[in-house]
Amino acid sequence: MAAKWTPDSWTTHEARQLPTYPDAAALGAATAELGSYPPLVFAGEARDLKAELATVAEGKAFLLQGGDCAESFAEFHPNNIRDTFRVILQMAVVLTYASKLPTVKVGRMAGQFAKPRSADTEEQGGVTLPSYRGDIINDIAFAPEGRVPDPQRMIRAYSQAAATQNLLRAFAQGGYANLHQVHRWTHDFMGRSPWAKKYAETADRISDALEFMAACGISPDTVPQLKATQFYTSHEALLLPYEQALTREDSLTGDWYDTSAHFLWIGDRTRFDGSAHVEYLRGIGNPIGMKCGPSLEPDALLRLLDTLNPAREPGRMTLITRYGYDKIESGLPRLIRAVQREGHPVVWSCDPMHGNVVKANNGYKTRPFDRILAEVRGFFAVHRAEGSFAGGIHAEMTGQNVTECTGGAVAVTEQSLADRYHTHCDPRLNASQSLELAFLLAEMLNQEVKERRKAAA
Ligand code: PEP
Ligand code: CO
Repeated sequence: MAAKWTPDSWTTHEARQLPTYPDAAALGAATAELGSYPPLVFAGEARDLKAELATVAEGKAFLLQGGDCAESFAEFHPNNIRDTFRVILQMAVVLTYASKLPTVKVGRMAGQFAKPRSADTEEQGGVTLPSYRGDIINDIAFAPEGRVPDPQRMIRAYSQAAATQNLLRAFAQGGYANLHQVHRWTHDFMGRSPWAKKYAETADRISDALEFMAACGISPDTVPQLKATQFYTSHEALLLPYEQALTREDSLTGDWYDTSAHFLWIGDRTRFDGSAHVEYLRGIGNPIGMKCGPSLEPDALLRLLDTLNPAREPGRMTLITRYGYDKIESGLPRLIRAVQREGHPVVWSCDPMHGNVVKANNGYKTRPFDRILAEVRGFFAVHRAEGSFAGGIHAEMTGQNVTECTGGAVAVTEQSLADRYHTHCDPRLNASQSLELAFLLAEMLNQEVKERRKAAA
């Protein structure tokens, strides 16, 4: 029998990757203030997402989760939010058109601020300072004052998340996501990409279908799904004092929800047995994710699933695998078999980003696009061989024309990485690379769906 859970029961467990705030009174004041602020999402919305993810677990929908590695105060701008939102819409259209499956859209947005780090300190020119841990904790500039964890940053992160969430809701519900706008979601700078042309062709076909349907009396006025979409938010539940302050009891069900986002996940560095992060997440009613890297043994995974989803509720758990292009085919089958043997209902999603980081000759941290695609191919191949459903993608991406990952049809070279390298943490796919990834995913998903339909017939 598990001990009683409370929003602060995590504090008696081992917490890795949390900052040490030098001023406990200042921390208490900031979390008390956050505790009096409105929730950013409503529990009923988190339940809706859970129900949608249950259909993914059954193989009847696909999960598309993407956005920044780390949101930042500096990059906070309506155009950035709009551009990432629209490239996710473009990707979703491509996936749905090819596979004829609904796409569940979840942004790594409106709260993705805190970062786990491999070292507690960073050294530059003989000076050692605490590592940067994300704008919600300290400052990226390499200067002693800014690297001290400041709890007031949580208040600023909350207000940025609230404004971002508000704009995303407006875009999703207010007309921007109307399928009749499908041509307008293309970014101007995509002109040189062959995939932009392919997207225009898909958009033409969708427009044709919409005209045909309109002639039959099916229009955005009669079918609201044509003019609006559901768009959910997510982030890594890393900074537990912040998550605790936004944990609220749902007045309808009496259950606890983390109202900082619809979906929260546990990172690869904080998912160990006895972890404070696991303790916190087990008690909230939201759908949750867990990163699964090469160090995760099948037995440990099953113990974690029993802790996090004891009732085996479909849609509750998404396992986000992040092996690296050369490790996925040897590592993933063991996890799938263990989960199948125990009958845990999970969504399997592929993060082809975090196992594929390399250092370019000029010192930039990058990810080669061909390795990202190779991991996605490996993911589909393993699931096909194991008879399970390859249900989702988890990508670090942006709608901006950045040069952070090498390769792609409009090739980013190692030399050009310096041109527009803006990320506050890991390298992201730019808009053209994201669209290209969507077309390759669509091809694989289409094949997967056809084979599953054939097998079921
Ligand atoms: C991330 O998703 O940004 C991240 C840190 O991933 P992981 O926990 O898989 O390393
Ligand atoms: Co990252």
